[in-house]
Amino acid sequence: MKYGYFDDASREYVITTPRTPLPWINYLGNEDFFTLLSNTAGGYSFYRDARLRRITRYRYNNCPLDQEGFHLYVKDGDTVWNPGWQPVQTELDSYSCRHGLGYTVIEGTKDGITAKQEFIVPKGEKCMLIRVTVTNISGKEKELSVFPYLEFCLWDAMDDASNFQRNFSTGEVEVAGSAIYHKTEYRERRDHYAVFWANREAQGFDTSRDAFIGVYGSPARPEAVFGAGCTNSVAHGWQPVAAEQFDMTLQPSEQYDLILGLGYIENPAEEKWENPGVINKKKAEAMIARFSDNGTFDAAMNTLKKFWAELLSGYQVESGDEKLDRMVNIWNQYQCMVTFNMSRSASYFESGMGRGMGFRDSCQDLLGFVHMIPERARERILDIAATQFPDGSAYHQYQPLTKKGNLAVGSGFNDDPLWLIAGTDAYLCETGDWSILDEEVDFDNDPALRQPLMEHLRRSFNFTRNHLGPHGLPLIGRADWNDCLNLNCFSEHPGESFQITGPSEGPVAESVFIAGMFVKYGSAYVRICRHLGLETEAAEAEEAVAAVEKATLGAGWDGAWFRRAFDAYGNVVGGKECEEGQIFIEPQGMCVMAGIGKETGEAAAAMKSVEERLDTKYGIVLLQPAYTRYHLELGEISSYPPGYKENAGIFCHNNPWIVCAETELGHGDRAFQVYKRTAPAYIENISEIHRTEPYVYSQMIAGKDAPSFGEGKNSWLTGTAAWTFLSISQAILGLKPTLDGLMIDPCIPADWKGFTVTRRYRGAEYHITVQNPGSVQHGIKRILVDGVAQESKILAPASAGSTVKVEVVMG
Ligand code: BGC
Repeated sequence: MKYGYFDDASREYVITTPRTPLPWINYLGNEDFFTLLSNTAGGYSFYRDARLRRITRYRYNNCPLDQEGFHLYVKDGDTVWNPGWQPVQTELDSYSCRHGLGYTVIEGTKDGITAKQEFIVPKGEKCMLIRVTVTNISGKEKELSVFPYLEFCLWDAMDDASNFQRNFSTGEVEVAGSAIYHKTEYRERRDHYAVFWANREAQGFDTSRDAFIGVYGSPARPEAVFGAGCTNSVAHGWQPVAAEQFDMTLQPSEQYDLILGLGYIENPAEEKWENPGVINKKKAEAMIARFSDNGTFDAAMNTLKKFWAELLSGYQVESGDEKLDRMVNIWNQYQCMVTFNMSRSASYFESGMGRGMGFRDSCQDLLGFVHMIPERARERILDIAATQFPDGSAYHQYQPLTKKGNLAVGSGFNDDPLWLIAGTDAYLCETGDWSILDEEVDFDNDPALRQPLMEHLRRSFNFTRNHLGPHGLPLIGRADWNDCLNLNCFSEHPGESFQITGPSEGPVAESVFIAGMFVKYGSAYVRICRHLGLETEAAEAEEAVAAVEKATLGAGWDGAWFRRAFDAYGNVVGGKECEEGQIFIEPQGMCVMAGIGKETGEAAAAMKSVEERLDTKYGIVLLQPAYTRYHLELGEISSYPPGYKENAGIFCHNNPWIVCAETELGHGDRAFQVYKRTAPAYIENISEIHRTEPYVYSQMIAGKDAPSFGEGKNSWLTGTAAWTFLSISQAILGLKPTLDGLMIDPCIPADWKGFTVTRRYRGAEYHITVQNPGSVQHGIKRILVDGVAQESKILAPASAGSTVKVEVVMG
């Protein structure tokens, strides 16, 4: 069942009922100011950091769900309704929500009145605009009032949700005309405030929640709206809000519009005040003036749409399959941008208070984003590297506002360092900008420890090389990619962290997954060294990689698949002798992607085992058989009920590893089959089962052992975005950036006749046509570049600004 449809020409998903299985959200904002917005206008805004600089409130586990946001109340006689249906939930005569790229339009009709809210965060601005358009289509005169409403957060979202003894006394606002200023804590150390404004004169306002909603009221029945209107309340302490009242008399067909804004302003310390106790509003007034009419609103919308059209034009496919095209050309790339911006910090499943930017997460996000805005990828790599420790290990997370490592979580996740090589290698392959390796970057955010980025990569590589266990495989530390496989932690008591209880490192527990990573990204490191002329270092590194590869095919091989790990007692995890958890997906994907066992048959056997043991109709589960009880020596993985999350859920992130691995072996049919099973556009028809947004990937789909098999959770912020983009754009369609140029090497289903791709690469535009007359899955008969036959699959970079015509015949 569907709850909407894709409008590809407008690059929108159009939701046609407000009763989606879960709130279906969108992300507005690209640089500093962000809003999460649901299809019923729920959500919240923040400046840069969802924890430290939260502008409006949101209650995640509220009941009813999704009641905080940017709602508009329309009062038409005795009827009160919202264009997005929530929170009053008055039945609408019509409803739609168009989620576009960086904007959302919600429109509802009731009793001859249409009300539309258009939401956008303009490029380069620290604000969100909401244009409200009310149209009288009833054929008779109507008297109405509309009330926009939002609730401010007292900045630090964690403190806001817990420190009530203080916070109920600190709230302060100022009102000037139709602008409401939220200035809690501005009197002391803050140099910032928020402003909510309207471009028309309001007939009333409220800034006290108790006055607008009522102490025992609810957003579904605000006293001011259902009663006699706003009372011009000024909040002192308690809950500061922004509500305004606009009265109108509309003739038949008459339209009324109103531009609302929510802005974030910073003032230097010496310019904080206009008069004692009165905040300096100059910057806010200038912001308000910039968006005073429809013309400026439309211009902001056009700029945003052009920005996205240009950005996406860097990779566009025409495959003849509209679902594939919409994933590749629109939604997958859009999600890559969102994950790049947010890492795992703020979604409808990530509270914005828990996790900041993940070291491994952000490095992987780069893989799907680097072709979009390489300069931002560059900046990110340097920020991430600055949180690395001198020994090559790394803070597992850092806060986006401060860019400082998160001490509470610390380090000890032994895959982290290698992801820095992965991200940097992707940047080098995309841009050819070797200067990044010379950039001086702090270790541990300490300028005294600054070293060139290349030294960071070296220490990443050496960290793994110097932390090998009894079988010559890398030690796992607190966990590897699978945060929930905690082999050294022994978390025994409720409330203890699974990951950081116990020693951060044991001398025994080893990870076959990190071994695969070391072969894959260690080899990338070798290529980088060679490119820099560091032959001795390259040769040594190659030897270290070869030794780990050998160990992987030795102790890491179980007979028909790669083992997952050795636990702290030296017991096998992910082997046939295990009672539960006999086979895991991660090492199969990573080791085969690394090419391990490709020549000797293990790779093919591992892929066959995945198909036989882990496949389901909704995707490949992480492991089998699921753990049915808690295993102290394994940790969080066994804390989940069977079928959820890392305990045999379909963890979408590592399905594309199998896609990539299958293409390593030339299996285009199977690769595309795996790709399609989790790709949102292909499963739109089962939205009532999948429940999360049909335009983006979720982190997890419940596996076959779960009662809710097929149900998605944790949509939006997942490494799945980057990895699926990589799996389709590089592995299947076969356009792989390398250090030496763009490689063309498709691996497609045999029944594809061909496809075309336009790809921007190092400043040149490649128009690539692939034909498959012989119905093969892999292999190239001929490549012509501007009519000239090529010897190599790697095309030497063309000059920036040029257009290159590439004709490929498979066979
Ligand atoms: C984390 C990742 C981790 C994955 C698997 C995600 O929630 O953000 O860092 O690799 O779970 O455990």
